[in-house]
Amino acid sequence: MEKADFFKSSFSIGEEEKGDEFQELLLALPQQRNRNGSTSLYLYQGFWCPSEATLKAIISFQRHFQAQETDLILASSPKSGTTWLKALAFMIVNRARCALNESPLLTTSPQELVPTIEFDLYMRSQCPNLEDLPCPRILSTHIPFASLPGSIKDSKCRIVYVCRNPFDQFVSYWHFLLHLPHENVEPLSLDESFELFCKGVHAFGPFWDHVSGFWKASLERPDKVLFFKYEDMKADIIFHIKRLAEFLGLPFSEEEGKKGVIEEISRLCSFETLKDLEVNKYGKQVYGTPNSAFFRKGKVGDWANHLTPAMAECLKKLIEGKFGASGLTFEMSC
Ligand code: A3P
Repeated sequence: MEKADFFKSSFSIGEEEKGDEFQELLLALPQQRNRNGSTSLYLYQGFWCPSEATLKAIISFQRHFQAQETDLILASSPKSGTTWLKALAFMIVNRARCALNESPLLTTSPQELVPTIEFDLYMRSQCPNLEDLPCPRILSTHIPFASLPGSIKDSKCRIVYVCRNPFDQFVSYWHFLLHLPHENVEPLSLDESFELFCKGVHAFGPFWDHVSGFWKASLERPDKVLFFKYEDMKADIIFHIKRLAEFLGLPFSEEEGKKGVIEEISRLCSFETLKDLEVNKYGKQVYGTPNSAFFRKGKVGDWANHLTPAMAECLKKLIEGKFGASGLTFEMSC
């Protein structure tokens, strides 16, 4: 099946949320230098927006997005395993539409199959045409739970959140930013970035508020919000594929079980398979980011190769303090 059959939508690039109102808001918001060194972070509704353009897009998203009951929203902090979740959700939802070995996932990047609402939709147009997206619409976002548009929180649409231990998430994001265009500005060093991360100053952070918001929502409304951890997925992906399919109301049949469909989806969505596909090796995102930047090591515990024992101890204490009473813990190694 052609990717166009899955992803038909027309966008007009260039329309932007403009005007005095936005400029006034911008001036009023606290700012910090971003970790890529070339843009500012803006503290908006208690979280750090990674650029002025992203803030515009988020405001348009909040104002104009209308959720449908069948929507599936994949939510995450950047570098928590979003690409993996996108691939899995796409394969589970579309498994009856075409043979697995002819899936668009083999020729199209997961980022394109499952657009990120603030970057891929509302940054290109204030009111993108989302009506032509195939049903159910699978979309992703990095916005914290509290700031999601009311229609997402109040409708029957489903949300799947993936989180990752903050050590690996921080290290992964630091590497990712090295791939982004820097306009001749030196990106922040690992030490500088780490200091900001520990203050909660990073894209869509603070980390602990982001995770806690979705964690609480998943406890209060387990039928609406499914909470995954990257490390748990690494430990038992078959269990998580089944769980995701059941949550979406698309459980695997006995026949699919016998045919090995779940194992095949796991294999096609694995780090090793996706990383080696032509499209993910050589393709680029609309804004120039190479698709390969979304596939680095795909491991639990790589942080130990980058953070000093002192940094690790400092972050460990911080995280224990932030999550202590919540019952939420993180696996740091495999
Ligand atoms: P590393 O930088 O630690 O390798 P996101 O998709 O949220 O941007 O997160 C990217 C991180 O997930 C990267 O981590 C990337 O290598 C890893 N990743 C991407 N695809 C994966 C997959 N199919 N399975 C496991 N990890 C994956």
